[in-house]
Amino acid sequence: MNDNPVKTEYDDRPIGVFDSGFGGASTLRNILAELPGESFIYYGDNKNAPYGDRPEEEILRLSEHAAEFLLGHGVKALVVACNTATSASINALRRKLDVPVVSVEPAIKPACEAPGEGQVLMLATAATTKLARYRALQQRMPDPARVVNVGCPGLVELIERGETGCEAVFPVLDMRLGSLKGRLFDGIVLGCTHFPFAAPAIKSWAEQNLTGRCRLYDGNAGTARQLKRVILKNGLCAAPGSPEAGRVSFFTSGDPIVCEPIFRRLLNTPIYE
Ligand code: DGL
Repeated sequence: MNDNPVKTEYDDRPIGVFDSGFGGASTLRNILAELPGESFIYYGDNKNAPYGDRPEEEILRLSEHAAEFLLGHGVKALVVACNTATSASINALRRKLDVPVVSVEPAIKPACEAPGEGQVLMLATAATTKLARYRALQQRMPDPARVVNVGCPGLVELIERGETGCEAVFPVLDMRLGSLKGRLFDGIVLGCTHFPFAAPAIKSWAEQNLTGRCRLYDGNAGTARQLKRVILKNGLCAAPGSPEAGRVSFFTSGDPIVCEPIFRRLLNTPIYE
């Protein structure tokens, strides 16, 4: 008889992931690498994207609806793969739901902890830059004034159409960041899960228009690691060798015929490579 009890209970239910649209695919890429034995249900609220120009109460209502949709599909844990939805709804979702809820948030901590003479540029939706949860996070930084927050309306819309190249992205950055030209930045935080898909364009705009290292940061890897910890701690791992491992089912409030190919393409697009 084995005196060392091995945990033989597994939970093959999928993990739910949602975003206002396709942005959460950048989070899911990291999660798939961290938890290859799990299966996933992704919900993109593409019909209502972008969330970032909406009032807080509306973002909360849409986020609750997305969470309910996924819970209705029997998920064992929920990932809020949207910085905007996190800022507006994470406390309410955690209070209301009886599954673990993990979220993304702008990666200003690693950016602010990196030494340098320059500032940290935080790009996000207009809502994220204004909401209390993000403002409180910024205040916890060693030097909150080092962070320059810029809402970038227009960028999410492009990425929702699958347009991520310099030609499409540069005019929006010229408009939103034009006044910062020539300034010194050590880091740029991609504080919206859509933005990593435009990372090469954002990097090359920064190289042409800003000074300093302008190293890019996003919160996705941290979220994936946190999800793994939560799954292990709560005994929610899928059985080894599950035939569902790595499967991603896609649902959208938009037109699935249009949305699913864009989602699959983004999900398989290497980021920062
Ligand atoms: N991907 C989202 C985020 O991380 C939301 C973008 C939007 O819908 O405005 O904030």
